[in-house]
Amino acid sequence: MSINLNQLISEMTLDEKIGQLNQVGTSIYGGKAENYETLVRQGKVGSFLSIKNIEQANKLQKIALEETRLAIPLIFAEDVVHGFDTIFPIPLAESCSWNTTLVKKSAEIAALEAARAGIHWTFAPMLDVSRDPRWGRIAESFGEDTYLNTIFGKAKIQGFQGENSQKIADDHLAACAKHFIGYSACEAGKDYNTTDISDYKLANVYLPPFSEAIKTGVLSVMSAFNSLNGIPASLNKKMLYDVLRQKMKFSGILVSDWNALAETIIHGYTVDEEDAVEKAINATMDIDMSSLLYSQYLKTLIQKGKVSITQLDQAIYKILSLKKALGLFDQPYRSSPDKYKQLMNQYPKHRKIAQEIAEESIVLLKNTNNILPVTQNDKVGIVGPYISNKSAFLDTWACNGKADDIMTLAEASAYHSNIHILDQVYAKYIQNQSLDEADKNEIKSMDKVIIVIGEEATESGEAKSKANISVNQTQVQFIKQIANVNKQIITILHNGRPLIINEILPFSTAIIEAWHLGSATGNALLNIITGKTNPSGKLTCTIPKHIGQIPIYYNHFNTGRPFDPNKFNTSKYIDESIEPEYPFGYGLSYTQFQIVSTSLSKIEKNHWKIKVHIKNIGSFDGKEVIQLYIKKNGGQYIRPIKELRDFKKVFVKSGEIQTLDFDITLDTLAYFDEHYNKIVDFGVYDLLIGNSSVNAETNKIRIEVENNDSTK
Ligand code: BGC
Repeated sequence: MSINLNQLISEMTLDEKIGQLNQVGTSIYGGKAENYETLVRQGKVGSFLSIKNIEQANKLQKIALEETRLAIPLIFAEDVVHGFDTIFPIPLAESCSWNTTLVKKSAEIAALEAARAGIHWTFAPMLDVSRDPRWGRIAESFGEDTYLNTIFGKAKIQGFQGENSQKIADDHLAACAKHFIGYSACEAGKDYNTTDISDYKLANVYLPPFSEAIKTGVLSVMSAFNSLNGIPASLNKKMLYDVLRQKMKFSGILVSDWNALAETIIHGYTVDEEDAVEKAINATMDIDMSSLLYSQYLKTLIQKGKVSITQLDQAIYKILSLKKALGLFDQPYRSSPDKYKQLMNQYPKHRKIAQEIAEESIVLLKNTNNILPVTQNDKVGIVGPYISNKSAFLDTWACNGKADDIMTLAEASAYHSNIHILDQVYAKYIQNQSLDEADKNEIKSMDKVIIVIGEEATESGEAKSKANISVNQTQVQFIKQIANVNKQIITILHNGRPLIINEILPFSTAIIEAWHLGSATGNALLNIITGKTNPSGKLTCTIPKHIGQIPIYYNHFNTGRPFDPNKFNTSKYIDESIEPEYPFGYGLSYTQFQIVSTSLSKIEKNHWKIKVHIKNIGSFDGKEVIQLYIKKNGGQYIRPIKELRDFKKVFVKSGEIQTLDFDITLDTLAYFDEHYNKIVDFGVYDLLIGNSSVNAETNKIRIEVENNDSTK
């Protein structure tokens, strides 16, 4: 049956229409089911947030279908960010895989598990380009680079929504690009803080991932909590209407963030709740998430003539279209308790993929004297707070994930007789403030010691900003005491943000950046440690040396006085280096790769092909990420000192050569002016090719863009 939405809208009363615009987070009703069941009966709710239980969802759906006049089905939404039952690495970690195929796959599995639990719509992916590690939500992002946020965002949306965004299959979810716009630029890295971003920067850094999401067919966009240039993002008409709707041509659903409409009064922008609703609906905000203000004030505003019925109907049309795209008019119960249970047979398969992604998300930062991988002949001790502490890994948006389902390093290593889990060492050290004598002897007897430290998963995420992002002193002192008895230290870091590691670096012969990896943590780590899997992750966010360097990111503008150690007045700190601890794009392997040659051919005017021949000159097979940056001097605007515009991840066997093709078109080189128009400067460009942002200059190819219609 094909539902006629206009016909349905014409049959709806004003109250029924307003009900559709109301999204209810169950916690605002104290989680009491009877309260929100009544709301459904009264037709006062169009969608729910945070019902993750198929029985409960279907019960509410039944009320909507059987006890309301027009039987309009409900939508159930949830933040399915990096898994549902099977938990994948946090998005920041996933982005370090530089593997869009795997990232799409993780979104597909998350969608499948969530859809079977009765969910229709996920509030993901988060597309906030994140350049401040103090901000806790950097964990939810794809890092500091706009291009990476763009392509990983696209992969997630495709994975969540499936092939056809007009018809979301039963095992997929509607996606939501969030937070529009500028949320991650919060001053001082403090969550929810105000932002002030120029149009040029908005156009080039923050908007492109959203443009691509819209082109990919994302069905919804969520506004942000921050104020932007003096106006709260949730009612910023310039950004929501002029830019998002008109310029970027977004015709889907715009949903506010949780209670954000009511908070515009606290921002000091709106005078009262009615004012907030008037401004929000006039900025084309379709759904009010959990402030309940649309329910209370829309009717009065319509009666006063401050909001038109046409405006209301446009919002209703978008919401009903989402319900139609989800197939809810034909099949309101997309899943059942049985279907959910049956899927569990596939969880071991899902976990294998979670492991594959976790392995590719791990970044090897340091490996002096090839201390890694450990061999079967090495007697290895493992110590630290996070070797068997399952709950430490249940992180931001862990959804339905259970601590018990997380495989720890201790569990994964149990069958390796050369690996010794020294579980009590850290607990005793905490108790006595020093290493136990017997433990010292045991640690001394090891060939290598693995120390697992960092942050608990609950230390990053929403409202988890930190003013101090150094490894904590208890852990620093622990490493130092171990180093007194055994210097063969391999440090594993679990964290949801880049940490300042300068104090532990000198004591760590190797460092593995393991982030928060989800369900398959232990297995993935074990494979990396033992060399069964060769590490291939690359940083997608710069690791600073000092907190005072923040914001520090690779693609900054030059100054007129760049740092020069031989000159006095140059851009630097007098008390700290300007270099990061580890740069964007960086990550080691157990083998070595060499770009043996590159070649350029011109296909036609303003279209080139580059071939890169890469050789694995070490003794392990492995994957490498070849990165292509552009650099342009002289144009209509200053451009960054280099910008990532493409990359390829490739598997190369030891001793073999692989050839990679890069296509360079005007699209590769384009950027935006402050009116959000795409432009390309003509003239000479340098294309820089390498396996990190810092060594790309060694392979430089020059091209010249000829003037044509889109260039100036
Ligand atoms: C977050 C959003 C999230 C929403 C619903 C808010 O606090 O900022 O990202 O989608 O809650 O859970």
